[in-house]
Amino acid sequence: MFIRNNWYVAAWPHELTGLKPLGRTLLGEPVVLYRQADGKAVALQDRCCHRSMPLSDGAVVGNRIQCGYHGLEFDCTGRCVLIPGQADIPAAARVRSYPVVERDEVVWIWMGDEERADASKIVPYPWHNPGSGWAHRKQLYTIACNWELMNDNVMDLTHLAYVHRNTIGGNPSIHFNAEMKVTREGESIKAVRWLRDSTPPPTYTKAIPGLAATADRWQQIEYFHGLIRVYTGVMPVGRGGGEVPAEPGRDEHGLRTFDGITPETATSMHFFWSAAHSFDIDNPATTDLVYDQIDVTFLEDRDVLERQQARMSALPDAKWVDIRNDVAGLQVRRLVRERLALDGPAPSKMAA
Ligand code: FES
Ligand SMILES: [Fe+2]
Repeated sequence: MFIRNNWYVAAWPHELTGLKPLGRTLLGEPVVLYRQADGKAVALQDRCCHRSMPLSDGAVVGNRIQCGYHGLEFDCTGRCVLIPGQADIPAAARVRSYPVVERDEVVWIWMGDEERADASKIVPYPWHNPGSGWAHRKQLYTIACNWELMNDNVMDLTHLAYVHRNTIGGNPSIHFNAEMKVTREGESIKAVRWLRDSTPPPTYTKAIPGLAATADRWQQIEYFHGLIRVYTGVMPVGRGGGEVPAEPGRDEHGLRTFDGITPETATSMHFFWSAAHSFDIDNPATTDLVYDQIDVTFLEDRDVLERQQARMSALPDAKWVDIRNDVAGLQVRRLVRERLALDGPAPSKMAA
């Protein structure tokens, strides 16, 4: 089951080069993405209307995509505009097109009811943009797990103490005893935790020379369908506990991860992530160091998630037991169920 009426990350902008189309399964549907000669990003169903050849095996020709089998060409609306050796083009010669918006260095796609696509609903991520005061690097992993397992993982930061003990983790008791406030606003859930007077994790101590031995740490996780924004930071001991600073101030250091979660199939997902830092932003070595540290943690998560999915697939009827620290993850699962019920079943030709 997928939430269809929602904006999802389809690609990073640099993946669309304008030369070779990109084939990618999103929400169970094969999609071809490409960049027109004029720079516009396009998404169509990845199936030629002639004999079902994947269009992603074809070529980008100017502002069109050309099928690699018999040369039919399509425009960005999915309409066939050229059939070699034939003047008349039947009205039915078209493929589905999807609304695409490129914003904040993200290629967003809408795969639900087209009339409901509203670009103003795209969750902002200004920290990718030049001049934002942040520097970042991006990555994509395709992970063999159901997308809701990644939601659970990001919403539950207590696993840091076990899965990520060598990077962003820290002392288990600090994690389990941290204050956590979970609030819901519309279709978003925000969890805030303060870990006061605690040892900063290795990611910070490696990236920030001269950081004090202890600090007040904040962790803010904002869930939206398809995107979780994680904002963490350190500030001098004694200052923490109130509102999380909108932007890190003097003596404060922030890290942000963009966690784009796009289902591929029922048991696989695309994880589009970026790691951004608010300090030493003109030094690419710091960006690489932060990236490398976060990369290790996400590879650790990927390993856990794939093992979980393998067990779930082997024992599909086995039940789960909830614990106290599942509070934020369970709220997200409820929110997802509410939305799935609202949207109703997917059209039958879609494999959802
Ligand atoms: S299958 Fe695409 S042109 Fe024939
Ligand atoms: Fe993790």
